[in-house]
Amino acid sequence: MKRSLLALMLSATMGALLMTGCGQTAPTEAAPATTEAPAATEAVAEEPAPTAEKPENEKLVVGFAQIGQESGWRDGETNDIQWYAAQHTDTIDLVFADAQQKQENQIKAIRNFIDMGVDVIAFPPVVETGWEAVLTECQEAGIPVILVDRGVDESCADLYATQISSDFIWEGAQAADMVGELLGGSGKVVELEGTVGASAANERKQGFDDELAAKYPDIEIVASQTGDFTRALGKEVMESFLKSYDDIDAVFAHNDDMALGAIEAIKEAGLKPGVDIKVVGCDGVKGAFEAMVAGEMNGTVECNPCLAAQVFDAAARLKAGETLDKWIVSNDGVYTQEDAEAELPNRTY
Ligand code: AHR
Repeated sequence: MKRSLLALMLSATMGALLMTGCGQTAPTEAAPATTEAPAATEAVAEEPAPTAEKPENEKLVVGFAQIGQESGWRDGETNDIQWYAAQHTDTIDLVFADAQQKQENQIKAIRNFIDMGVDVIAFPPVVETGWEAVLTECQEAGIPVILVDRGVDESCADLYATQISSDFIWEGAQAADMVGELLGGSGKVVELEGTVGASAANERKQGFDDELAAKYPDIEIVASQTGDFTRALGKEVMESFLKSYDDIDAVFAHNDDMALGAIEAIKEAGLKPGVDIKVVGCDGVKGAFEAMVAGEMNGTVECNPCLAAQVFDAAARLKAGETLDKWIVSNDGVYTQEDAEAELPNRTY
């Protein structure tokens, strides 16, 4: 194994020692603020099976090109991946890269992983398009690819092995039903979209807009704009919506971080979030549950970031030559203010 690869993996492992994943409680006070004590997970991956041709002690080497740190949800996913690898150092070597929200950085990281000769490459594509060239390079190098938590467009369907993610269209539709019920079937809604071009944004929008149009014809989406999945931009865009429209009944944010930013903007405008303007998000982060308990947020549609066990299990199977389902769908829940207090202690991210 190359020296640079070893150095990178070592730093990934040492960083992970301070982290917790979705299946463990935080061991020390040194754990970062975004790394809350997680609840037990029901599924734990089997140890990777060595292939027949390779020596039995060879580890599973996985290159993971993370998008960045745009949200609490993303931090939760990163912590889970790094923590899981740190718990399985006898069988797993994780090479972790942070692309700082840039597709070009994700592509560079993937090319590095190819040069290193990792066994499997896993990544959440920041946007849906523009992956043909690098995924073809992975295929030519014989390295299977796992898409984690986001998808790519149809033209790349034959260039990856499996996708492990939530159903974003379902999430958007669930949020629409929640908004529809909160407004009693009529009113004006603004939408805070996620990162432009991301499957999580495109599909949540599709699910939300289509469900509202089909079931709640008297609810109008008066404005829809990207907040890039960040709390800061969610707040900024909501401020501009509040200046342009004085009759907003509800906001649907494509993630909870933007919903929390919108709550700040609504309060600063002298209105009561959750009451004067209903607030619905996606993800199910701890902050959203706290806001629901405080009566400032009305609901969230869960999107599970605790995918590490499934990702490493899938990687081991791919390394062993197995064919996997093209889409391994997460099982997510829908939460309202009524469930928030009881569920809050279980939130792990
Ligand atoms: O791809 C999942 C989405 O990405 C989450 O909803 C969001 O918080 C993150 O940035």
